[in-house]
Amino acid sequence: MAKTVSQFVCQECGYSVPRWTGKCPGCGEWNTLSEEIITRGDRKKKQTGPVEKNTVSLLSSVDLQHDHRIQSGLQEFDRVVGGGLVPGAMIILGGDPGIGKSTLMLQIADLLYKKSVLYIAGEESPKQIKLRSDRLSLEHPDNIFIYPETDLFLVQRAIEVETPGVVIVDSIQTMQHPELQSVPGTVGQLRESTAGLMKIAKKLSIPMILIGHVTKEGMLAGPKAVEHMVDAVLQFEGDRHYAYRILRALKNRYGSTNEIGIFEMHEKGLVEVKNPSRVFLSERKSGAAGSVVVPTIEGTRPILIEVQSLVSSSSYGMPQRTTSGFDQKRLALLLAVLEKRMGYHLGTQDVFVNIAGGIRIDEPAVDLAVAIAVVSSFRDAPIDARTVAIGEIGLGGEIRGVNQIEQRLYEAQKLGFTHAVVPRSNVRDHNFSGSVELIPVERIDEAIDSVLK
Ligand SMILES: Nc1ncnc2c1ncn2[C@@H]1O[C@H](COP(=O)(O)OP(=O)(O)OP(=O)(O)O)[C@@H](O)[C@H]1O
Ligand SMILES: [Mg+2]
Repeated sequence: MAKTVSQFVCQECGYSVPRWTGKCPGCGEWNTLSEEIITRGDRKKKQTGPVEKNTVSLLSSVDLQHDHRIQSGLQEFDRVVGGGLVPGAMIILGGDPGIGKSTLMLQIADLLYKKSVLYIAGEESPKQIKLRSDRLSLEHPDNIFIYPETDLFLVQRAIEVETPGVVIVDSIQTMQHPELQSVPGTVGQLRESTAGLMKIAKKLSIPMILIGHVTKEGMLAGPKAVEHMVDAVLQFEGDRHYAYRILRALKNRYGSTNEIGIFEMHEKGLVEVKNPSRVFLSERKSGAAGSVVVPTIEGTRPILIEVQSLVSSSSYGMPQRTTSGFDQKRLALLLAVLEKRMGYHLGTQDVFVNIAGGIRIDEPAVDLAVAIAVVSSFRDAPIDARTVAIGEIGLGGEIRGVNQIEQRLYEAQKLGFTHAVVPRSNVRDHNFSGSVELIPVERIDEAIDSVLK
């Protein structure tokens, strides 16, 4: 009888050793060994799932008949996954501790009441989940089956026996392959557990959502290898001091990765934010220096965001550059452009930039709003409260065109804005026929002069 054993294999050079060590004896790299299953003797590599014979077939003859997407009805979620869950798709939902991953999944499970949902609970007891479900006032708890188990083989068996419509695993870090010696959550365990679950998902065409934790650095804890294996990687993020939560797709084999879903965390659970612009601008103090509104595009949706800046003279030798929701290096670049092209001496000033509402914006189209906000605070001069600014700033101080200008302008118009500072290149060929008056600009100094007289 052959015995299944595991060994530790270096992910860099492939060298294998029977026991874990910090340094690979083969290539000398540190922390590259991860546990893998091998089988000695006559048996081949241990099957982690059921055996299935595949056949060669024509692409055009592949049957899609029964493969319609499963929609939860929670639009903010369905949109991010590409229009619904694809049968057999494997999705990872990552996020910081306590951000609301289990809450979101329980709500989705409730909404998918027409399918029976199997919730594998590795982290919480059924009682804890029941408490949460009562707090969220779930409507269809009769269709959610809870299985508190972490043993991969038992979980696989349960899925095969129950054949649920959807499987949720909370969380993949708690799953344990019984033939590996390493503790749950390690690279080897994660990979083998994901692979084992994936086989069943594909064979039975069950969509599976795995909850995953995020490390301090913001990476999905454990290996990138798991991200490569699954069909979609979703990230649930937000500032814990705010109630807003954003669902983003980092990878999606079945849809765009640009879409985001916005939720607000209430005591009764997550509520969709249907009109984010109104929400993000709701606490805006009009007429304040250092405040500029910019219409950004997140996925296919325009969202108005308020950029706030505070510039004050630095009392220490090292001036501070602090940002929240905006890239700090990008701010440094914009300050350098303002200094070089416009002669503002910001080297002796502390500069703070904040995107109101706790959301994060990576789009270059917000550059101009950030630069105007900084100058507005520096000169202590507010800009007109009904003006928005859009544009990317180049190193030469030139204002570059942005995409989807029309959508941005219509959103600004909808919320009562009357003027928009826009890149001149966008004005040449646009299809905007709304009432917002456009102020075309080509250079940073021109843009600043147009709003700060
Ligand atoms: N009574 C309550 N009222 C309002 N919000 C609550 C209440 N209880 C919990 N929450 C919110 O739910 C969040 C926890 O949600 P949840 O357990 O789904 O997070 P998680 O991402 O699954 O966490 P973990 O990483 O621990 O599994 C809390 O951070 C809090 O924001
Ligand atoms: Mg949880």
